Amino acid sequence: MAEPLDAALTEVRALLLDPALTRAVAAGRRRGQRPSVLRAELRPVALKAGPRLQISTSDGSRPYTRNVAPGPEADAAVDELLAEPFGNWHVETADATLQLRVTKSGEAQVHRAAATRPAAEPGGHDRVKEYLLDPGDPIFAEIGGSAAKRRQVDAFLRALAATLPDDLTGPLRVVDLGCGNAYLTFAAYRWLAQRGVDVELVGVDVREDQRRRNTELAERLGWADRVSFVAGTIADAVVEPAPDLVLALHACDTATDEALARAVRWRARWVLAAPCCHHDVAAQLRTRPAPAPYELLTRQGILRERFADVLTDALRAGLLRLHGYRAEVVEFVDSRHTPRNLLIRARRTGTAPTVAQRAEYRELVDRWAVSPRLEALLPTPTPDPAPTPDTPLPDDVVAAH
Ligand SMILES: C[S@@+](CC[C@H](N)C(=O)[O-])C[C@H]1O[C@@H](n2cnc3c(N)ncnc32)[C@H](O)[C@@H]1O
Repeated sequence: MAEPLDAALTEVRALLLDPALTRAVAAGRRRGQRPSVLRAELRPVALKAGPRLQISTSDGSRPYTRNVAPGPEADAAVDELLAEPFGNWHVETADATLQLRVTKSGEAQVHRAAATRPAAEPGGHDRVKEYLLDPGDPIFAEIGGSAAKRRQVDAFLRALAATLPDDLTGPLRVVDLGCGNAYLTFAAYRWLAQRGVDVELVGVDVREDQRRRNTELAERLGWADRVSFVAGTIADAVVEPAPDLVLALHACDTATDEALARAVRWRARWVLAAPCCHHDVAAQLRTRPAPAPYELLTRQGILRERFADVLTDALRAGLLRLHGYRAEVVEFVDSRHTPRNLLIRARRTGTAPTVAQRAEYRELVDRWAVSPRLEALLPTPTPDPAPTPDTPLPDDVVAAH
């Protein structure tokens, strides 16, 4: 329920000046207004001179950090920030978390919860954080998930953190394709909102029972206006408007191809997909001889399976490149936590592929006589205008055929 903004900001002020403050972030902007900085982060630090409130602001090009003394100096600095027309405030203290979002009509939408993590020692800024989201965070009590799944999700968030710009404030539209029990969906929302990003997430899964369960959970967490679920296939589910960021964690077999193809069709700015089992290309390799002189690669069953994994993901990354993405394949989590620990991470550049890149992809597919599912799902090719080698092709979404 919306609340008067002034009263909500008074509550935020008290928390910011409370010695129990752990961390606070202000970001986003109110309708028709623009704060003088993109983002502000506050936290307590212990200096030789005594406790201080550290305030870091970013104008988009460079950060500016200052430490203010408790008392009149901190009061004035906090009042200055509260006067800025930020769209969101996220405040954590040892006892409570408060999230404030300014609505289009200038009221405050406030979510209050018990503390999310034990209070950090002031000055803990030199310590390397083991988790992005504390495994003791109360959301895990709600959403469940094994310790291994929490590790995977946390590692996925780290990869996400390394992908998104530091000063991102949103609005950001995110979709989690093949979301299952929505561990990643909820954790991503939690983490992005904590960073002060104005974010909306949609989880898609073919199972209607998952949609019902996840929607109830979003309501219990008080996030239903920001996190929603759709029952439908990755290929066809209605997600509007198109997302900026596409996530997929262990969508089965060719569901990962569907997720990548959907991301390309949406022209999503970022895509992070951790593939699951790879059956499609492996089945194709079983039924045809390997090209000479590579028979040794596929003669033994286990080697053939592993090679099929490598070939599948290499072709996926290659296809993304042909469709205007800079794509890389990385290990996002230690294999102790899951053997499915590769991540295809891609950023849309809109750069047209060169003739040489197209030829490189085509030669690999032809030599191994495979038909990658992703290729079949991507847009129909436009006729090749026969440019000279290494000349970028004119359209930024050019199929490899
Ligand atoms: C292995 S689970 C992973 C769930 C979740 N991302 C996670 O990591 O916990 C794969 C999920 O993808 C869903 N799924 C598989 N193929 C799909 C498709 N084509 N469209 C929508 N959902 C799909 C399944 O129902 C299942 O919930």
